[in-house]
Amino acid sequence: MANRLPLRLLDRRLLAPGVLHVSFEHRDGVPLPFKPGQFIQLFFTDTDGQEQRRSYSIANPPPRDQPPMQWDVAVGLMPGGVASGMLQTLPLGSTLDAGGPFGRFHLMQGDAPRRFLLVATGTGVAPFHAMRLELERHCRNGTDVVLLCGARTRDELLYRDTFVAMAREIPEFSYRGCLTREAPPADQPELVSGRVQDTLASLVPGRDDLALLCGNPAMVDDCATWLSQAGLPLRSIRRERYIASG
Ligand SMILES: Cc1cc2nc3c(=O)[nH]c(=O)nc-3n(C[C@H](O)[C@H](O)[C@H](O)COP(=O)(O)OP(=O)(O)OC[C@H]3O[C@@H](n4cnc5c(N)ncnc54)[C@H](O)[C@@H]3O)c2cc1C
Ligand SMILES: NC(=O)c1ccc[n+]([C@@H]2O[C@H](COP(=O)([O-])OP(=O)(O)OC[C@H]3O[C@@H](n4cnc5c(N)ncnc54)[C@H](OP(=O)(O)O)[C@@H]3O)[C@@H](O)[C@H]2O)c1
Repeated sequence: MANRLPLRLLDRRLLAPGVLHVSFEHRDGVPLPFKPGQFIQLFFTDTDGQEQRRSYSIANPPPRDQPPMQWDVAVGLMPGGVASGMLQTLPLGSTLDAGGPFGRFHLMQGDAPRRFLLVATGTGVAPFHAMRLELERHCRNGTDVVLLCGARTRDELLYRDTFVAMAREIPEFSYRGCLTREAPPADQPELVSGRVQDTLASLVPGRDDLALLCGNPAMVDDCATWLSQAGLPLRSIRRERYIASG
């Protein structure tokens, strides 16, 4: 069995309609290291006594000058969802076991693309929020970063204010919120209509681009196929598919 860490529930609030921000610290107050982009698994027992596990991407960037002491996650609330229900009602201060951090969906030491193409739907933007300080560093070295986020409505675009502020301050960083069930207001040029694929299709990928795709598995597969057909080598496409009950 993978190593289990005892986590204490530190904070919980509504981040957007149907999405909880949940923070954990180690029960013994020790650091919780991770690479931005990695995910954790929460272990718990459901109301039928069955052991369950669910994966969540870490959403917070590690602090610049000190060891990371907490893991924040953005939890999409599925109607009737087992983990959704548990995380909504778990009392603050409770402990539960976690595994991780896991995964290779992170920036690597040798990454030196001409441009990062980052595409997310729903809570799939969490890893990009965790990576934002690393992405800022790439931008300051002259690399372009394009972030496309898909959501039904403006309210469901997670961390939008943060990304809009980054785009205002950093010329190399651009952000598009792709709305599927609400018309974008004319005075918010960062918002466009349609799925992320519609906006991605307007970006001609170069062989030196690096794409990271995260969220709805059908979206991830669709974008990966399109990028590959448009000439981006498969080694330059990293994916994190949020399969149900993963
Ligand atoms: C690597 C990885 C990282 C992940 N990171 C996150 C994350 O950061 N945030 C997050 O919210 N989730 C994430 N997920 C998905 C998460 O692990 C759970 O599967 C999801 O939250 C549903 O759990 P639940 O127990 O609430 O619902 P369940 O009890 O598992 O499902 C309830 C019902 O909802 C349906 N359902 C479940 N997920 C979806 C979906 N995405 N779309 C439509 N129907 C669905 C199920 O089929 C079922 O009918 C990740 C998954 C993986 C594999
Ligand atoms: N805010 C929430 O997270 C929330 C709140 C309440 C309930 N739920 C339920 O939770 C489940 C998951 O919701 P979610 O928001 O995490 O993810 P989601 O259903 O994957 O939707 C998020 C965004 O991804 C888009 N999308 C869906 N499939 C796509 C595809 N194949 N290619 C490109 N874009 C695609 C959706 O567009 P479309 O509009 O075109 O589908 C929407 O804009 C759903 O059943 C939902 O009803 C979620």
